[in-house]
Amino acid sequence: MVRVGIDNDVYNRVGESWWDEDNPLNLLHGSITPGRFAYFRKVLGERTGRDYAGRDYTGRHALDIGSGGGFLAEEFARIGFRVVGVDPSPVSVDAARRHAAVSALEIEYRIGTGERLPVPDAQFDVAYCCDVLEHVSDLEAVIAETARALKPGGLYFFDTLNRTFVSKLVIIKIMQEWRLTRLFDTPIHVWSMFVRPAELVSVMERHGLRLGEIVGLGPRSKNPLRLLDLVRAGGARLSYGELSRRLDFGQVKSTANSYMGYAVKR
Ligand SMILES: C[S@@+](CC[C@H](N)C(=O)[O-])C[C@H]1O[C@@H](n2cnc3c(N)ncnc32)[C@H](O)[C@@H]1O
Repeated sequence: MVRVGIDNDVYNRVGESWWDEDNPLNLLHGSITPGRFAYFRKVLGERTGRDYAGRDYTGRHALDIGSGGGFLAEEFARIGFRVVGVDPSPVSVDAARRHAAVSALEIEYRIGTGERLPVPDAQFDVAYCCDVLEHVSDLEAVIAETARALKPGGLYFFDTLNRTFVSKLVIIKIMQEWRLTRLFDTPIHVWSMFVRPAELVSVMERHGLRLGEIVGLGPRSKNPLRLLDLVRAGGARLSYGELSRRLDFGQVKSTANSYMGYAVKR
């Protein structure tokens, strides 16, 4: 099924400043990246028998599908992975390359799509696709390509948005449509493109990726008024990076808005 209506060009229009805390894209950095990476690293430790606390993954290969500004690519590179990041937005790829150079990290970024990954077969120990599956035009092709790129036994990490009544309210109405609280004045998300966990599991199954686990990803801040910070966010009042830290994203029980997890290539 081909899915349309989303404005993915936003990653070219504002993608030169992913790392700027005032860029709404920086919401993904403040606490979402540390939150999801902590979970991925815990799973990595459990699945590989390596010491979660410290031992590194030097020499292992990781593929970042839809690498954006390189938030997660830099995390995986820091624990020793040789990371290849793939993204269709040349502006984002350029920003990610510049930031990796400043961080003194060797990450290879390529322009391409998840539907047609510019990588050889069975090269990667780990592949991950975070906040991307709800943006792609052909989910089936992206998962098929991911499975092709993974070595047998390789790990696939994901996070994406669930298609529920709650996500329609929070992610579409509050974060995208309501003038006072929206991040962008453009459809960065289309609710019908959100992926229910059961849908993802069956696509993965078709391509030899066996589900390990799905958990919720969301704000851990107990203060519901934190959502009101969305009104203050942007400009000089409150940066999006700070808003993200205040919301304290990470593993939660509810999968109603967003969820993350892993699968294993057979
Ligand atoms: C919300 S951002 C997530 C970026 C990054 N994965 C992260 O979590 O920080 C979505 C990214 O998906 C990319 N993207 C859009 N369509 C894609 C596709 N068909 N294949 C791969 N990446 C895509 C966009 O260019 C953008 O960088």
